[in-house]
Amino acid sequence: MAGRLEGKVAVITGAGSGIGAAMAEMFCREGAKVIAADISGQQDAVAKRIGSNCIPFQADVSKSADVQAMLQAAITHFGKLNVLVNNAAIDGGMVPTGEYSEEEFDRVWAINGRSVFLGMRYGIPLMLKSGGGAIVNTSSMAQVVAFPTMTAYCASKGAVGQMTKVAAVEYAKQGIRANVICPGPITTGITAHMPAEYIEAVKNAVPLHRMADASEVAHLGVFLASDESSFITGSSILIDGGYTSL
Ligand SMILES: NC(=O)c1ccc[n+]([C@@H]2O[C@H](COP(=O)([O-])OP(=O)(O)OC[C@H]3O[C@@H](n4cnc5c(N)ncnc54)[C@H](O)[C@@H]3O)[C@@H](O)[C@H]2O)c1
Repeated sequence: MAGRLEGKVAVITGAGSGIGAAMAEMFCREGAKVIAADISGQQDAVAKRIGSNCIPFQADVSKSADVQAMLQAAITHFGKLNVLVNNAAIDGGMVPTGEYSEEEFDRVWAINGRSVFLGMRYGIPLMLKSGGGAIVNTSSMAQVVAFPTMTAYCASKGAVGQMTKVAAVEYAKQGIRANVICPGPITTGITAHMPAEYIEAVKNAVPLHRMADASEVAHLGVFLASDESSFITGSSILIDGGYTSL
């Protein structure tokens, strides 16, 4: 039986760790060919583990030239671009708004927000040439609820939701769908450095009473990238164990 992403070519950012790495693995298992992009170098090991359908690519997603080269790699290696997953992000400094530094705000915005604009700005023309496709942007439940001390992160994730809706409406007639994944607490590199008592408090705040595995988010990524979600566009889908329902 053919995989759910058979014949599709995808670029996934932040693919060296966590959700991006889980998506690269699951996308390839479902038949896609993947450019696994990251700044860290860890994308090399991820791609090696997956095999020849996954090509690692080093890119800083906040830099236009890197993003353009990363997208071009899909054309060079696999001849087209059908799926773009803008997933790389950082959490940034945790400081109240009245003390948050301008430099840190700009840094978080460049990696979490501007990067998504750049990905869509240069990815959409390639997707149009490839006959359409699906954009999947990873935001956060911070798109819809406030996290004190994380003004830059929350602002950037709110922007991802809005940019995605704009693209969804603009390109619907040309066969490109664009949707957002809003994860709650997931065990990944981003949460690895958080103090144990903070993690415990997070778990207690989740109705399902646990953090998720990155693979649980990757399942949603596969669905939104595949033709199974053909009538879903402009949507932001929460995958948060019920956190924002309280
Ligand atoms: N883990 C969570 O609890 C959680 C919750 C909500 C949203 N998210 C979102 O999920 C996405 C994936 O994060 P994760 O949890 O897998 O974290 P992670 O830290 O495991 O993975 C993020 C990856 O992005 C890469 N990256 C960082 N800056 C980059 C840059 N400038 N250019 C290219 N790559 C860069 C990192 O090297 C890393 O490999 C992010 O958008 C994050 O905001 C995560």
